[in-house]
Amino acid sequence: MMIASPRLLSLGNRSLLVRSCRYFSSTTTSDGPSSFVLSHPSTVDHGQTSRGRVIAITSGKGGVGKTTVSASFALGLASRGKKTCVVDFDIGLRNLDIHLGMERRVVFDMVHCLMEECQIHQALIKDKKREPNLSLLAASQTRDKEVLTVAGVERILAELTNSFDCVVLDSPAGIESGARHAMFFADDAIIVANPELSSCRDADKMVGFIDSKSRRAELGPDECLPVSMTLLINRYDAERAQAEESLAINDMTELLGLPVVGVIPESRDVLPCTNLGNPVITLPDNVPASGAFHDMVDRFLGEEKELRFTTPEPVSFFKKLFG
Ligand SMILES: Nc1ncnc2c1ncn2[C@@H]1O[C@H](COP(=O)(O)OP(=O)(O)OP(=O)(O)O)[C@@H](O)[C@H]1O
Ligand SMILES: [Mg+2]
Repeated sequence: MMIASPRLLSLGNRSLLVRSCRYFSSTTTSDGPSSFVLSHPSTVDHGQTSRGRVIAITSGKGGVGKTTVSASFALGLASRGKKTCVVDFDIGLRNLDIHLGMERRVVFDMVHCLMEECQIHQALIKDKKREPNLSLLAASQTRDKEVLTVAGVERILAELTNSFDCVVLDSPAGIESGARHAMFFADDAIIVANPELSSCRDADKMVGFIDSKSRRAELGPDECLPVSMTLLINRYDAERAQAEESLAINDMTELLGLPVVGVIPESRDVLPCTNLGNPVITLPDNVPASGAFHDMVDRFLGEEKELRFTTPEPVSFFKKLFG
């Protein structure tokens, strides 16, 4: 097809290269060795622990919808009975509290927990009105992400995974400290990408980091499974993909080599929902963005579901006639 240009092909080849480097990276972190208080990933792989899973929502590129996805995904998990904590890792630029309508309830945040200025349970904000299974740990609005340390993050995740089935981490953009700390302890990573080349290239870079620099990668295949990575395509416009104005689903799966956990359509419903503090998944299932999020949550939990909302809406006779 028209978009599968040499640029795409070279990006695809690099993907393979990155994958082949898996497990052969350095095993040190800038923070030096940390005490592993989070139970070993192999215990999670073999169901030998009651600890929850750590799920990173990440992308590389900024503005692709990580926070939008984190809010709806976490709410979806909670509504299916999973005790879920969603953590805003975007220190200094917090937003998730607004997406969840909890901005007036933030007293303590993740930095207070890292600096041991409060107990972690004091910083958790429970979603009393919608889903009591959901809690938020907000990011700091004022402090810098330099406060993040591997040991500090591990301590927080160890405590959260003791009480929650799912700990969802909303990663900041980029591949610097914040994003790296968010992916380091992940058991699962949901890579969010928009149907455009720049987003795929950054996503590919993040996949490479997770493949080589996550804790699971550093422990190696003899000790545990690699991070389970899936692709979430966000802001998909089926008409534009059909007209070859944007990447199609197949282009993206070929480029990134990941299984698709969901395709969320471009939707005018998302922004008003964010502004109201009610994630789009709270709308009825026949609203495309909401239905697509419900399907994505079900797929993540192991259900097989056909993709919906990925073909252009049929144009009615009258619309064709009168525009
Ligand atoms: N499916 C969608 N349809 C339409 N707009 C969307 C969709 N998903 C996200 N958006 C819009 O995209 C913008 C960026 O979303 P969001 O803040 O979730 O991205 P992000 O990846 O978390 O950004 P950052 O990298 O800055 O943290 C917002 O204006 C949001 O409303
Ligand atoms: Mg964000």
